[in-house]
This record gives sequence, C-alpha cells and structure tokens, in this order.
Amino acid sequence: MNIVILAAGQGKRMHSDFPKVLQSLAGEVFLKRIIQATKPLNAKHCVVVGGFAFEKLQNFLKDFPTIQVVFQKEQNGTADALLTALPCLDNTLPTLVLVGDAPLISTRSLQNLKNQAGQHTLAILSANVAQPFGYGRIVRDIHGDVLKIVEEKDADENQKTIHEVNTGIMLIPPSLLPFVEKIQNNNAQKEKYLTDLIHLAKCNHTKVQAVLLDNAMEGEGINDKIALCQMERYVQKQQAHNLMQQGLTLMDANRFDLRGTLRFDKDCFIDVGVVLEGKCVLGKRVQIGAYCVLKNVQIGDDVKILPFCHIENAVIEKHSSVGPFARLRPNVHLKENVHVGNFVEMKQSTLGNNSKAGHLSYLGDAKIGENVNIGAGTITCNYDGFQKSATTIENGAFIGSGTQLVAPVEVGKNALIAAGTTLTKNAPADSLTHSRMMQKSLPKKKK
Ligand code: UD1
Ligand code: MG
Repeated sequence: MNIVILAAGQGKRMHSDFPKVLQSLAGEVFLKRIIQATKPLNAKHCVVVGGFAFEKLQNFLKDFPTIQVVFQKEQNGTADALLTALPCLDNTLPTLVLVGDAPLISTRSLQNLKNQAGQHTLAILSANVAQPFGYGRIVRDIHGDVLKIVEEKDADENQKTIHEVNTGIMLIPPSLLPFVEKIQNNNAQKEKYLTDLIHLAKCNHTKVQAVLLDNAMEGEGINDKIALCQMERYVQKQQAHNLMQQGLTLMDANRFDLRGTLRFDKDCFIDVGVVLEGKCVLGKRVQIGAYCVLKNVQIGDDVKILPFCHIENAVIEKHSSVGPFARLRPNVHLKENVHVGNFVEMKQSTLGNNSKAGHLSYLGDAKIGENVNIGAGTITCNYDGFQKSATTIENGAFIGSGTQLVAPVEVGKNALIAAGTTLTKNAPADSLTHSRMMQKSLPKKKK
C-alpha cells in the first residue's frame, strides 16, 4: 500500500512557530508516533505532506530516510494535500491517508481498517465520541450505510447531534485515486475536503464503509494546547496503570510522568513528582525520592535516589545513594556502594566502589578510585578558559574539605590532602600534601 500523512497545516490554535505535527506527547513528537504506528504495515511508499514551517519538518524527517516529504504550496484542504503527494504514489495500490494531528492511532486499528476494507472499498476510520464538536460527522442512511461526512461548519442542527465522527484516517482503493482531482471546494471553508470522495465513490459504484475504532481516543485530533494537555494526562495515566500492573509502586499515579521508556525489576518505589525521560532502567528495590528528574539512567539493585535530584546519562551501581539535591550531568558512573550527597555536581566522572562525596562539591572530568573520601567543598578546576583537563584520584585517597584540584592533576594512592589545599602539582601516594601557610597566632594588641 501507499501511506500519506497530511501535515501541512499550521495548527493556528497552537500559536506555535513549529508545525502542529512536531508537538510532543509524553516526550514523543506526534509525527514520530504516527510513523511508528504505520511502520509494521510495510508500505511501498510513505509520504508526508508539509507546508507550514516546511524546513522544520524536513529537518525532523532527516532521521527517516525512507519517508518522502512533499510541499503543499497553499493549504487548500485535505484533498488538495493528497493531490500534492499523488506523483510519489504507486497508483495500482490502495492508499492509507492519515492526519498528522491524531497521534494515538495504533498499528492494530490501522491493520483492522485494512483487513476490513480489502482492495476495493473506500474505508473510513470512525469513532464514537462524547463531544463531537469540531469533527466531521458520519451521516448514515436508514440502512446504516455511510451517505457522507459533514464538517462541523457545514452541518445542520440535526447532523450536529451525531456522535459518530470521522477520524480523518481513510483507506482509498486504487480505482478511486483519480477522483481526488475532481473534488471541489463548495463548502463553508472553501477548502477541498477529502471526505467528498465518499460522494464520488458512490457515483462510481464503489463500496463505502466506516470502521469504528474500539478506543475513540486513538482518533482524537489535537487542535489546541488544552487538548494537548488533556491527551498528555490521558497517556500518562495509561502508562502509570500499565507500570503498576507490572508491579511498580507509585506513590501517586497522577504525579508521575514518563517521557520515554522504563524497565524495572521487583519492589521499586517512586515517590511523587518524579519525571523520567529517555531510556530508564531500574534494578531491584530501587527507591526514587520526590521531585527527581532522571533521563537515560541505568540504576542497580538497592540504590536510593533521595528527593530533588537531577540525573542525566548516568550509570549508578548497586547499593549506592544519591542526593538529596544532587546533580549528575552526562556521563557519570557511580560504582558500587557509592554516596553522592547534598549539592554535589558531577560531570563526566567516575567514583569507584565505596567512595563518597557527601557535600557541596564539583567533580568534573575526574576519575576517582575506590574508598576515596571527597571532603565538603572540593572542586575540580577542570577548565582554564580554553580547554578541559582531567583529574585522577587513586584508591584510598582522602581529600580534605575546601580543596581545589587544578587539573590536569593526579592524587596518588592513599594520599591525604589537607583541607584548604590548592593542588597545582601531583600529590604523591601515601603522603600528606598541603599548600597552606602554616597557621600562626600573634598576641592581641593591648588597648
Ligand atoms: C479533518 C476532517 C474531519 C475529521 C478531522 C479529524 C476533512 C475535510 N476533515 O478535519 O472530517 O473529523 O480531521 O481530526 O478532511 N492538512 C494539510 N493540508 C491542508 C489541510 C489540512 O496537510 O490543506 C492536514 C493538517 O495539517 C492536519 C490534517 O490535514 O494534519 C487535518 O487537517 P485539519 O485542518 O486538522 O482538519 P480538521 O478540521 O481537524
Ligand atoms: Mg484537526
């Protein structure tokens, strides 16, 4: 089959510089969701029709080399949009048309539409909705056969009471493709409506069938930020329920957001206000405290993430604890039984087994061994204004509070760095190194 995704519209009510199809739902762009739903159908051609902010759309589609993108000069309606795609299609095959603003459509429903329609029927995917306002209504005759689709702006009072609506998704048999060109714009919006193909099909003795969605949400079109927010909540609720069914303990399913994927083992607990992004993997008995934001993390058994942490692209091995108020920027690896505490920021650094950085520190581009203690207020000075340099701290070292490690610099095995040291040269193993003036006390002047 051919697949055409209509995505040229501006989506005026979104008030955005981006095409509506590039808005996101649970962290995933509408268009990507739709492309993923259509992928298992193995279409011969897949074409996206763009228009508004076309370059942004083209840029997004660079990651999908098998998808063609065509430019609709003026948004003269859904039929005109399909005409723009026509030269890219194989006109001997059925064509599945999707609207780019219904992001929840599933492969199963598309497959069902295809199976029910076969090669020779014009098949419309319809939905029964509680609030039909804004949708095209499916008008049936006394036998229940589809007569036509009437848009909201063209509907009379009687037609407006119909709750069966057009999702905008339809499967067009090859015999009807040439008729798309014949569609006129005799309607309230002066647009060429693709839904007028029903009338032309009937004149051409082609069967028309409306296939009802099991779950009407799949056909829901998003036209403004209110609808976007409502759908986001719907998706989040579904995801949370699925995760709880698999055994995840969520303190409050209404205050949990997953914008990616989550895999977890037994007895994990997530407190309120947690946001998970990208690909997150949790081992057994992991606890995530309130108001943490985690992106692309791999967390081992029995790890505790205390409240208010921000962690991105990190591996945290078993029995470790992080936070509260810790920030792990990309490429941090905490090995087993590590502790990173309050107001510690780390970036591209490793902390070996049993090492600790308990308070108020910055550790960047640092390779830190096992059983190391990083005192409060330790700072790796990794940037000299031109380039980044590395710090190495060997096993068993003790870094006193308020130490500055001016990189590139190395601290040897079991070295002791006195509090308040500014380390500009390597510190040898098994020695005490300090850079302070010796403390002296003088008698106070008498008044
Ligand atoms: C359309 C359907 C309506 C259906 C609803 C479902 C028509 C005439 N109406 O109405 O029956 O109930 O979807 O959500 O088909 N587009 C283009 N080029 C254009 C016009 C639109 O590419 O010239 C694209 C839009 O970007 C959008 C899709 O087609 O992705 C649907 O257009 P939209 O303006 O949202 O149509 P609706 O009024 O929602
Ligand atoms: Mg719409």
